[in-house]
Amino acid sequence: MTKKIIVANWKMNPPAVARAIYLSKEIDKGSSKIKNTEVIIAPPSCFLSDISRVLKRSKLGAQNAYSGKTGAYTGEISPLMLRSLGVKTVIVGHSERRYGFFENDDMVRRKMKAVLSVGLKAILCVGERERNEENFQTAVRKQIRENLKGIPKRFSKNIIIAYEPVWAIGTGKTVKPSDLYEMGIYIRRSVLDMLGHNAARTIPILYGGSVNAKNAANFIGVDGVDGFLVGGTSLRPKEFIAIVKIAGSI
Ligand code: 13P
Repeated sequence: MTKKIIVANWKMNPPAVARAIYLSKEIDKGSSKIKNTEVIIAPPSCFLSDISRVLKRSKLGAQNAYSGKTGAYTGEISPLMLRSLGVKTVIVGHSERRYGFFENDDMVRRKMKAVLSVGLKAILCVGERERNEENFQTAVRKQIRENLKGIPKRFSKNIIIAYEPVWAIGTGKTVKPSDLYEMGIYIRRSVLDMLGHNAARTIPILYGGSVNAKNAANFIGVDGVDGFLVGGTSLRPKEFIAIVKIAGSI
């Protein structure tokens, strides 16, 4: 049985390091005995170092990385630097970066390559912007094609795809399980075009967008869904741990 992956994306929260350490200890302790799960905590980069010292079972993740190694890139952080802090997984192409910070498909692709080429795992975020977007499947397919272009097949085992419809992020709206099932098939079909059959079969697909302890079971029960990318609820340890439990029980 493959482990379910549950990622806490804290975004730009909490406001101070003491709270970040507290939250990570609570999540780490509370989820340490839940079988069949892998928990990844992705705090703001400035807290990574402190949090890496307190995690026992959970893995450390980052929310973003630049595509260079070192150099004159004021304000940026490279995958190499993240790796040196104990980061194992990097979120790439989150919609808040794509649409709030103008990251285009080419930038996302270069970030994917940079993260994977230093041996880190990458969570590639994809998703349509509008609920009623006519061609939402085509939009997701285009992101996968553009963002995985030129990525060598040998990196496949380190790629995770998170389907996060933008309209479901932080809104309380969620995807219908039947739509999620269909999108999962569509994502695997798109991965097949880029990385081949084996990757299409084995790549973990996460769902993100207003996941909480009440609705998590609806999504984790969907065939082909391997976990969650959780925003707001990941700042509430008890509820987040409840989601981990639900994921581990399937
Ligand atoms: P919410 O869980 O707050 O909707 O955020 C989802 C998300 O963007 C995780 O990356």
